[in-house]
Amino acid sequence: MTNPTLAPLTLGLAGYGTVGTGLARILHENKANVMARTGREIHIRTVLVRDTAKKRNYSLPEGATLTDDPDVLLNDPAINVVVELMGGIETPYALIERALKAGKHVVTANKALLAEAGAPLFALAAEKNLHLAFEASVCGGIPVVQTLREGLVANHILALVGILNGTSNYILSEMSSKGLPYESVLRKAQELGYAEADPTLDVEGIDAAHKLALLIRLAWGHVVPFEEMPVQGVSQIQPKDIAFAREFGYHIKLVGSAKVENGKLEAGVYPALVHQDFLLARVNGAFNAIRIHGDAVGPLFLHGKGAGDLPTGSAVAADIFAIARNANPNNTGFSSSAGEAQLPMLPQSETTSPYYIRLQLPDSPGVLRDVAAIMAENDISVAQAIQRGDACDYDQSEAPACVPFIIMTHEASTKSIEQALRSLEERGLSKVKPVFYRVLEKER
Ligand code: NAP
Ligand code: HSE
Repeated sequence: MTNPTLAPLTLGLAGYGTVGTGLARILHENKANVMARTGREIHIRTVLVRDTAKKRNYSLPEGATLTDDPDVLLNDPAINVVVELMGGIETPYALIERALKAGKHVVTANKALLAEAGAPLFALAAEKNLHLAFEASVCGGIPVVQTLREGLVANHILALVGILNGTSNYILSEMSSKGLPYESVLRKAQELGYAEADPTLDVEGIDAAHKLALLIRLAWGHVVPFEEMPVQGVSQIQPKDIAFAREFGYHIKLVGSAKVENGKLEAGVYPALVHQDFLLARVNGAFNAIRIHGDAVGPLFLHGKGAGDLPTGSAVAADIFAIARNANPNNTGFSSSAGEAQLPMLPQSETTSPYYIRLQLPDSPGVLRDVAAIMAENDISVAQAIQRGDACDYDQSEAPACVPFIIMTHEASTKSIEQALRSLEERGLSKVKPVFYRVLEKER
């Protein structure tokens, strides 16, 4: 039953692509839920797009006006909430800033904007006591924003690690399980609506880093200067490394991780070998997952669809429902926009991890002795190693022949690994640039 005291909540929807149409479908098909959960109706009054003539994959919401003019949405006093689902940075920044200044709540799925330029917008929303809600920005349908902001609010977060990008996880899963080539799997991910408008953001790890920056803000109240975040993507991962990792019992995954130790934040996005027994190794396709360790709750694992129209629309709708219920804004989960802590970032060179290293060794006597000596000189302890007489990456007509040689190290400093690999190259002990990835530490 509609609550007669509550007027309908009226939305201005900016963007009617994958997520915008997903949201419209959910609000229409689950109309009964809207009533049951909020006691009022939710109407989409205006839909802003770039090209009003374009064919849409879901019909326009009943009674909505389609426009390409942001003023139609922003100057309409009947619109209570602007839902920004366009993507990009400059245009949505201006739209959100104007919406907040006009006293409208904002819901967005735009992690790029919030991670790179969100601080003034969060400050403005706090000053105006308005919602700037962003559940859909991190891990699509998984309610991780609410989990960190509300469910785990009593905890000190010790660490978090996750698979934060659906496109790259889909690519790695398909390459790994079906042996499909990188380019064709990326095209498929784009067709399925998982990828960003610019898929470089997905495959170069930038989208995952945007999400990690938001998670860090929610977990520790710290605003990471985005340019300081170490980021490496999946575009250079070769099928042979996926296969070698398997021989050791690992899957290669793009992970985002963060922990605070001794007052310093260690964070980054990088491909890592994840042991097949870890839950994260079993997260496949466009699924995302995140493991959060709180001092009171212990470890917690969230898993679900990280991209796509309905999963992401579900998260956008959750934020809209909270506004419809007149929930108090609690955008970042901290009482002041300054947050809880300003944490210096641990330099990459000072981090430690076990490592996977692939060399292409000249197949001649004494080479293994020389490799072992360089590892020892750099204080790197070898845990396992295999040599494979497979095809090489360089001209086989050159002498001597070469063989792939794969090393799994014990925990070592990143600085030592980089120094050792430089020495190996300088001494002609790898015929191609050595490949090296972190091995995810034991789940803690
Ligand atoms: P999309 O399919 O490319 O849709 C973008 C929509 O925004 C289109 O309707 C487009 O209009 C409109 N638009 C873009 N620039 C505009 C401008 N300058 N003025 C007016 N309208 C504009 O993108 P999407 O996949 O739905 O993603 C939208 C947002 O959600 C992005 O921030 C993305 O990072 C985020 N997100 C996406 C997913 C996902 O699975 N796709 C998941 C989580 C978060 P036209 O159609 O006329 O071009
Ligand atoms: N392009 C993003 C992904 C969409 O693949 O994870 C969800 O944020």
